Amino acid sequence: MGQKLHVYGEVDSTQTIAHALVASGAPEGTLVLAESQTSGRGRMGRKWHSPAGKGIWMSLVLTPRIPVYFMPQLTLLCAVALCRSVQKTAHVDAGIKWPNDLLVKGKKISGILLESSGEDERLKYVIAGIGISANLSVDDYPEELRSVATSLAIERGADVSREALVQSFLQEFEELYDLYLEKGFAPIRLLWEAQSVTLRRPIRTHTPQGIVEGMAESLDDSGALTVVTKEGERMKIYSGDIELK
Ligand code: BTN
Repeated sequence: MGQKLHVYGEVDSTQTIAHALVASGAPEGTLVLAESQTSGRGRMGRKWHSPAGKGIWMSLVLTPRIPVYFMPQLTLLCAVALCRSVQKTAHVDAGIKWPNDLLVKGKKISGILLESSGEDERLKYVIAGIGISANLSVDDYPEELRSVATSLAIERGADVSREALVQSFLQEFEELYDLYLEKGFAPIRLLWEAQSVTLRRPIRTHTPQGIVEGMAESLDDSGALTVVTKEGERMKIYSGDIELK
């Protein structure tokens, strides 16, 4: 992973560049890194704040020939790799909020966005977009993000080496990806559960059927979150965002 490295200054989004590289034949493991993004994108159509030189804004090309509906599993795998590399390199107590946000003391330090292209019900390629707020200071955040977002530097009181973090992430990712391709999702699921700050916590989420409130109980084989409501009903949440209460 990361053997083919493309490093840029300012780009619109590393995701857009990675898609274009795949179209011109870039192989699995190609990594796109940028110093800043003018149109960094997040999940659910949100923008991703990507100031220059302060974070890790990267996109990794993957070509697993797995069914399209397994993609949520890959997102969870990415979150585990990221969580482990952040803990090892920055020594902060990071945990995963379902599905794939990394939190430190309840605030977000990292996000993951997977974009894919499929063919015959199998994934043709996936671009795993990863944003890590490494060395941002409080002043680098717009006012509206300060209560919900933080950085590794703010939490540990010193800058982190972005190079060391990228290296460590690629190493952790490769190890888990090989395990996943060989043994499937079961071992990844256990690792995700061990790093989770969601399970056994009361949560709230919006679904097409309305607001669901309950206790997050477990992760199922597809990566969906099982929630037990106050009425004792067991529900599965497949996508979207949850709020920890
Ligand atoms: C989220 O939490 O909403 C996901 C954020 C993903 C941000 C990263 S930064 C690198 C890559 N390029 C983008 O435009 N987005 C992802």
